[in-house]
Amino acid sequence: MSSDPTQISPGKPSSPAPATEQLSSSHILPAEHWTTRAIDDDRDSSLGDSDTASSTASLSASILEYRTLHGRTYHSDKITDAQYWTPNDERQMEASDIIHHCLTLVHDGKLFKAPLKDDIQVVTDSSKTVLDVGTGTGIWAIDFADQYPHALVTGTDISPIQPTWVPPNCKFEMDDATLEWTYADGHFDYIHMRYLFGSIADWPALLRRAYRCCKPGGWVESFEASCVFRSDDGSLVEGSPMDQWGRVFVEAGKRFGRPFDVVGEGLVQDAFRKAGFEEITEWEFKCPIGGWPKNEKLKEIGLYALAGIDQDIEGWILFVWAQVMGWSKEQVAVYIAHLRKQLRDTNVHGYALMRCVYGRKPEKG
Ligand SMILES: C[S@@+](CC[C@H](N)C(=O)[O-])C[C@H]1O[C@@H](n2cnc3c(N)ncnc32)[C@H](O)[C@@H]1O
Repeated sequence: MSSDPTQISPGKPSSPAPATEQLSSSHILPAEHWTTRAIDDDRDSSLGDSDTASSTASLSASILEYRTLHGRTYHSDKITDAQYWTPNDERQMEASDIIHHCLTLVHDGKLFKAPLKDDIQVVTDSSKTVLDVGTGTGIWAIDFADQYPHALVTGTDISPIQPTWVPPNCKFEMDDATLEWTYADGHFDYIHMRYLFGSIADWPALLRRAYRCCKPGGWVESFEASCVFRSDDGSLVEGSPMDQWGRVFVEAGKRFGRPFDVVGEGLVQDAFRKAGFEEITEWEFKCPIGGWPKNEKLKEIGLYALAGIDQDIEGWILFVWAQVMGWSKEQVAVYIAHLRKQLRDTNVHGYALMRCVYGRKPEKG
């Protein structure tokens, strides 16, 4: 296989991702493996030497009663028992916004792939309605509302972390997407969902709800990243921290009942087909992790991807490693130190496979 970083071809379907079964739990190293090893010496660094890490519910007081795990806050389980695995604090919100910037670069500055242009920009008698499911900090919904002032954008989430100072055509609602949606049939022109891996037990049910609430002729779009890091040239070796990241996530998804490698398992496109969408289109991208690509654009994307992970590695893994897999906080911290070294090593040409899937609800039927 080639080790040329420019072999990554944005937009071109890649070779199929290794089957998730290959990442069986037998290849997961125990937590003690990391605490008994010296952390590798500094190698080529991507980010420099310094450690950068240092159904619709109305808002009520109880939704702000966050759960706390090892000092990090997570969404309240008072309103809905949806389980979600990253904190909802400032540190994780910043990481999430960095990833948003990275994904905007992946899309050449655009916010979506579905062929919406005419639908959304040409407004005749009424505004177009857009839904962003699991909106997080709301950054995508806000950017979309800014770019399309005639669209009415609603972002939903189980954490009320969105800003209040938003464009007048953008609003946020608390809503558990895994329960029956309260929106009327055919309500939205366009439904967007991004980075819901590890949150959804039943993808076909989610896409059925999106289908019901989408207008005939409207579009639904999903964008997900694989939690498994891969390399095409063997530079990411088995047993290394980046290799273990994916294995632990995959195993935890099985135990948690919410798959993490929805890209590797092809769950989303399958759910689009089962729901009845037509013109289903897939677009794939190998997102480099770190500044290793020679190609300037890919290098920039890789550096933002790394920054988004590095900003809050603890937030990305603490719940999964500690609550689901049973590691202590200290074991997690030592693993993170090993991982951080490898993430900065430009000799390791790691990437995460990303996949966008969009489809249209038939006009009739
Ligand atoms: C990784 S973040 C992605 C945020 C946003 N879509 C983005 O791409 O910037 C996942 C978000 O999904 C939300 N989420 C998880 N489970 C959910 C559920 N059952 N219903 C609604 N939102 C959910 C989380 O609270 C979190 O804000």
